[in-house]
Amino acid sequence: MQQTVLVTGASSGLGKSIASHLHTLGYKVFGTSRSPQNYPDFPYPLLTLDISSQASVDLFFAELQSQTQRIDVLVNNAGVGITGPVEEVNLDALRAHFDTNFFGPLAVTQQVLPLMRSAKQGKIINITSIGASMGLPFRGGYSASKGALHVITEALRMEVAQFGIEVCTLAPGDYATDIASRRYYEPNKKGSPYEALYQESLATMDEHVDEGNDPQEIALAIAKLIQQKQFKPHYAVGPFMQKLSLVLKRILPQKAFERLLKNHYNL
Ligand SMILES: NC(=O)c1ccc[n+]([C@@H]2O[C@H](COP(=O)([O-])OP(=O)(O)OC[C@H]3O[C@@H](n4cnc5c(N)ncnc54)[C@H](OP(=O)(O)O)[C@@H]3O)[C@@H](O)[C@H]2O)c1
Repeated sequence: MQQTVLVTGASSGLGKSIASHLHTLGYKVFGTSRSPQNYPDFPYPLLTLDISSQASVDLFFAELQSQTQRIDVLVNNAGVGITGPVEEVNLDALRAHFDTNFFGPLAVTQQVLPLMRSAKQGKIINITSIGASMGLPFRGGYSASKGALHVITEALRMEVAQFGIEVCTLAPGDYATDIASRRYYEPNKKGSPYEALYQESLATMDEHVDEGNDPQEIALAIAKLIQQKQFKPHYAVGPFMQKLSLVLKRILPQKAFERLLKNHYNL
């Protein structure tokens, strides 16, 4: 039977690659965007959804359920970036960031789970980041929101396994999308002691995203993953050195790993 997949944030970047690839493979794909009117020629339906607003999530599900009663796979992909020194980052901006990167995927998941429970099956993939497993300097808010999603995924998996529902995270390394140009950027306060290092780190981050891998890699990884009967809690896909950092984080003494990160960011 044709499987139905919901991909949030399918208007660009990784979500667009994932949704397009699954559509090509014959899945029935529903994508989402906050402004679907800007993308009239997509091969799969793009429905209106702002995951940071519960009202929008409720409206979206009312619309979706008029079109389908089953969701076999949910890819919680929609997300945004934020940069800034922890001391200076605007906390309202950080709360809004968590509304999108943490509470958003949870709000969507809460609506999808009853459908999956009644079908006695379903798969949920939360797109996190390799940065979810370590606090990246000047991206602490981003690491924290993705880290929170990483950890709550572990709890959710155990709670819903009894219903035949598989849950995991997929942590991308750097991929060449427009995420950097859309992220919230905290400008330095006047006379900020962080200015030089922050600006240098930003240049390194942007370079990594611009030179990142092809988003199609993530689409292929997701297509393979959803054919698996069971999920491990976490998967990582990306450039070799970035995946290696996850292994080093596990095996190196804490200060040695921190030294590596600091060297990388010239801190
Ligand atoms: N690119 C990378 O190197 C990288 C690395 C690690 C993790 N990730 C993660 O991968 C995911 C996709 O990122 P990307 O690089 O593809 O970025 P992107 O090109 O900027 O795409 C982000 C998508 O999320 C949607 N979105 C943003 N805020 C939203 C909201 N409040 N409600 C609903 N949809 C929203 C956008 O749709 P509209 O603007 O049309 O609403 C867009 O489709 C994110 O979760 C990101 O954190 C990316």
